[in-house]
Amino acid sequence: MRVKKAVIPAAGLGTRMLPATKTVPKEMLPLVDKPVIQYIIEEAVEAGIEDILIVTNRAKSAMDDYFDYHPELERKLAASGRDADLEAVRRAADLANIFYVRQKETLGLGHAIWRARRFVGDEPFAVLLGDDIMKADRPVIGQLIAAAEKYDAPCVGTQPVAPEAISRYSSLKLEPLEDRIFRVTDMNEKPTPETKLSDYAILGRYVLTPDIFPVLEQTKPGYGGEIQLTDAMRELCHTRFFTAAHFEGRRYDTGNLCGFLEATIDFALEHPASGDWLREFLKTKL
Ligand code: UTP
Repeated sequence: MRVKKAVIPAAGLGTRMLPATKTVPKEMLPLVDKPVIQYIIEEAVEAGIEDILIVTNRAKSAMDDYFDYHPELERKLAASGRDADLEAVRRAADLANIFYVRQKETLGLGHAIWRARRFVGDEPFAVLLGDDIMKADRPVIGQLIAAAEKYDAPCVGTQPVAPEAISRYSSLKLEPLEDRIFRVTDMNEKPTPETKLSDYAILGRYVLTPDIFPVLEQTKPGYGGEIQLTDAMRELCHTRFFTAAHFEGRRYDTGNLCGFLEATIDFALEHPASGDWLREFLKTKL
């Protein structure tokens, strides 16, 4: 298999980041100098993805505008010799072939993925959650694609989390295949301490195959009354070979306030325009 397409579900309501996300999509909140979603698209592009579908909703048109040209602004920047800004503004619009589809009702992540079926067609595809940012030497989705292509099977990104944290994620039942790569034999969404299968959680990155769509079509609402992607993948991992990659890198959940601040501070410390200044500023604060 060869993975060339990616889907970014970004149609959630973002209720953990209210009131900011009442009108600003959480994917458009700035992480230092770029919106969250740009980091995700850059990760996909770096991993060789050519076509990207963003699943949006009626409140998220700021995303389409961001990845479009802005001739009036570009003319002004060119006229005033602000070449670096002009280049940055253009670059965002030229990153990849970006397509959009709306999820008309917020029925869950599984339903958002199901909306991508026509875009995906009969090919394997990557999924990158619109609020999960990864900092890694090698793009995290690229690490999953390598495993998926090697085993000709779907692959979920995983890392072990603290035992008390696993109930916020999906837990995995795993059998080792090689260093950092596992076979998945079971999974469950938001487990309790009694039902968890391990402390390995699914964290924001997936490579899926089109056989997920007929399963999603039949998947009934699960946890929280939403159509859960994990419920559909669970069924699939019982009937076909399914893998997980313990990826190298640091994941930030920018969909909650503390995760967003962690990412902001870490990225600002590394940014040439803010790193030295922020280090000094934090010293005075602490
Ligand atoms: P989250 O649960 O993290 O996002 O969904 P949310 O629903 O926006 O968050 P809160 O809990 O209200 O703050 C995981 C991913 O699935 C997408 C979200 O945009 C996010 O990328 N999603 C979720 C959809 O696209 N559609 C949905 O119906 C639900």
